[in-house]
Amino acid sequence: MNYICQKCGKVETTQTYKANCDCSGLWQLDFIPQKFDLKLIDNKEWNIFRYKAFMPIKDYITLGEGMTPIIKFDNHLKLKMDYFMPTLSFKDRGAAMLISHCKEIGVQKVVQDSSGNAGNSIAAYAAKAGIECEIYVPSGTSPKKIDMIKAHGAKCHIIEGNRDNCADVCRQRVINDGVYYANHVYNPYFYEGTKTYIYEVYEQLGRIPENIWVPVGNGTLVFGVIKGLEHLYNSKIIDKIPEIYLVQSEFCAPIYDEFNHKTSEIKETLAEGIAIGKPMRKNEILNIAKKYNIKIVKSPENKILYARDKLAKQGIYCEHTTAATYAAYLSYIEKYGQLADNLISMCGAGLKSDH
Ligand SMILES: Cc1ncc(COP(=O)(O)O)c(C=O)c1O
Ligand SMILES: [Zn+2]
Repeated sequence: MNYICQKCGKVETTQTYKANCDCSGLWQLDFIPQKFDLKLIDNKEWNIFRYKAFMPIKDYITLGEGMTPIIKFDNHLKLKMDYFMPTLSFKDRGAAMLISHCKEIGVQKVVQDSSGNAGNSIAAYAAKAGIECEIYVPSGTSPKKIDMIKAHGAKCHIIEGNRDNCADVCRQRVINDGVYYANHVYNPYFYEGTKTYIYEVYEQLGRIPENIWVPVGNGTLVFGVIKGLEHLYNSKIIDKIPEIYLVQSEFCAPIYDEFNHKTSEIKETLAEGIAIGKPMRKNEILNIAKKYNIKIVKSPENKILYARDKLAKQGIYCEHTTAATYAAYLSYIEKYGQLADNLISMCGAGLKSDH
């Protein structure tokens, strides 16, 4: 299996420990799965590797991630309960895949930076795989996320400043020490895990909903959603790509801004999971948005707690970043009218961001 540099086109084996190409370009995975077919799903696996026929992996590390239910919230909205995961967020889909790859190529130690959830996931799967792990998080990260990272035996570095600064510090460590960067933004194996979100939706509903709402910080769920949908489309399982709505925080919206030729100040937001001022794959996200006519919408900061409360009053206790997606949906339908057949990922658990 090979990586291809998205900048200069260089081909590099996926056995490499290099976080990116020498030209600074990020890797893309040279992998086209076989045609999707429900018959190829391994029904004995109750985890994301039931789709291993479409994944670039032989052996895998699993903690029982995926297989999350879809529930009806009201007549127009379904929720996929992705916080029902081993470390309580959708990032387990990507971490299970990426750490499986690390194990396969013999990595002994990984580092990763995160707003908390991806770090939790990498720490847990690295622990299961017997791989040493260090996680960098920005100061201000929810204490419960930090506790969980430490509980899995990972060393947790708390870096002063914002999320982007934390990533810079971790990337410098990777450059200085050559340690493996098990990062959800750099490493495309992560997206081969997050794409199972779509496979599951299709398997569970027997169809893909018309409107899919996805939070976007660095874009790991977006890339997974697109990969999954393109695979279903190319396999002639679905006959169109649904409407996709990418949700950015009103206080941190670099992708929205660039798409709309605007500039806005970055401020602190309750939606810590999407507080990414410098998404490394911004151009890839913008290209996808243009290709599929995707709408990029902003989540109103002053509606996040309201949205979280509205969900909680119906038994769903999600984290602020997840409530932000619902807040964006509410404000969109308030402005443009109700849409039929919506799906939102409940991608992070409330207990993790109880501040
Ligand atoms: C709960 C939650 N939702 C959404 C996101 C956004 O994911 P991404 O940065 O990969 O776009 C994150 C990222 O940490 C998260 O933790
Ligand atoms: Zn290159």
